[in-house]
Amino acid sequence: MSNTIVIFGASGDLTSRKLIPALYSLYLKKRLPGDIRIVGCSRSPFTHDQWRSELEVSTSNFTSKFAKDSFREFASSIFYQKVDVGDQEDFKSLFRFLDEVEPDNNPTRIYYLSTAPRFFAPAIENLGIAHRELSVSGREPELRGNLLRRIVIEKPFGTDLESAHLLNEKIHQVFDESQVYRIDHYLGKETVQNMMVLRFANSIFEPLWNRNYIDNVQIVCSESVDVGRRGGYYDSSGVLRDMFQNHLLQLLMITAMECPARFNASLVRDEKVKVLQAIKPFSSEEVRTETYRAQYDGYLDSDGVPAGSKTATFAAIKLKIENWRWNGVPFYLSSGKALAKRSTQIVIQFHDPPTLLFTDGPKEHWDNNRLIIQIQPDEGIRMRFTTKVPDAGMELRTTDLDFKFAEEFTESMPDSYQRLLLDAIKGDASLFARSDEVEFAWKIIDPIIKSWQQTQNPKLYRYHPGVAIPESCDQWMHFQKKAWCRE
Ligand code: BG6
Repeated sequence: MSNTIVIFGASGDLTSRKLIPALYSLYLKKRLPGDIRIVGCSRSPFTHDQWRSELEVSTSNFTSKFAKDSFREFASSIFYQKVDVGDQEDFKSLFRFLDEVEPDNNPTRIYYLSTAPRFFAPAIENLGIAHRELSVSGREPELRGNLLRRIVIEKPFGTDLESAHLLNEKIHQVFDESQVYRIDHYLGKETVQNMMVLRFANSIFEPLWNRNYIDNVQIVCSESVDVGRRGGYYDSSGVLRDMFQNHLLQLLMITAMECPARFNASLVRDEKVKVLQAIKPFSSEEVRTETYRAQYDGYLDSDGVPAGSKTATFAAIKLKIENWRWNGVPFYLSSGKALAKRSTQIVIQFHDPPTLLFTDGPKEHWDNNRLIIQIQPDEGIRMRFTTKVPDAGMELRTTDLDFKFAEEFTESMPDSYQRLLLDAIKGDASLFARSDEVEFAWKIIDPIIKSWQQTQNPKLYRYHPGVAIPESCDQWMHFQKKAWCRE
């Protein structure tokens, strides 16, 4: 098997921080199938060696296992080609270069779009034109439907339903959907994949995984970092576009989906999409009662954030999945920046027992009957339940069954990009977002964003950087007659 990865936007942060370190780690673990070439493309002028030297420095900073010799061996398959994605002539030079470095056996070629989003459309169009010309002259097979030619697209995938739809149309003018790999790096996280294993490779959870036993589900992604130097990007995005439309809804789909008939890209994604289809987009009255938004103090002083910005850096929403499994079970999603700690978890809160038999029982009974899937950090799974305090009458206490990946698996958890790049190379799109999935996600998020822009409802609360959760969000949850899990 022979593979070429062509990275557009290669001089950007993602390539040096994530893509090359992930490919190097796979190389060290001997996981890369067959021979591989990596061709970086961007507008900056580099020689192959200059680019390799830059990557050597960045990779040594961003990988835990680094050795100069092995990196240099790996880097002998890294090349650089100056390409302006808006310039058709540059694509001609790129294809001439690919002809020189690729073997004759028609290798798999992956075009990786890691450019700023405004360059996605011109890059796709120019790739299409270049391929068409080459196929007319017989130098390249037809692009559309050729499964040896794939395109990987980074987020953000549009900024609303309309732009996502237009981008999908643009892509489908050149590529079949089966050739398209839209990245959501949350799907590459080990613990997210483990959620599917937990549900569908065990028989003990599934009978309980429904409205009869579950009171509510909380999907919470707290970040301790603030917007830092990304103020310009973040302010036009806000927490709903940045975290909810993609990562949190992906976690929700995996938590709520039915078991697919087989584990393959098409059937897994069919089941995920059905979850989104069962969520009714909010009316403006529902936006007022079922959503919460806040901004941390000091956000307005960040570089690139306009004075008086009303962009939310924290949000919580309550979603209803109207199907037989989940009707009546609220799914609370929340995410924010500048919070006390970094923690992503999915909390399955089971119903209280029908009667509380033991009068000395814990008052805060929300703390028990709870399954916590800790996505990051300290990846693991914890079951909280009630036991008896020994030799203390019928006094009760909360006990944990606590599984931590780090105790079972001594290697550090692989970065998401290792799994996603490997899957793209192997042609497995199960962990990538499909066009309809992305559009359905926007259908849920768009009305909230629009309503937030047009009205003061709900109001934009403020919070101090470093709080675990804004106090007013605790009150919002209290109003919902629920409580956030605080672990
Ligand atoms: C990115 C967002 O998609 O995900 C960032 O743009 C956010 O704002 C990041 O910080 C969170 O990813 P992780 O893997 O650190 O949880």
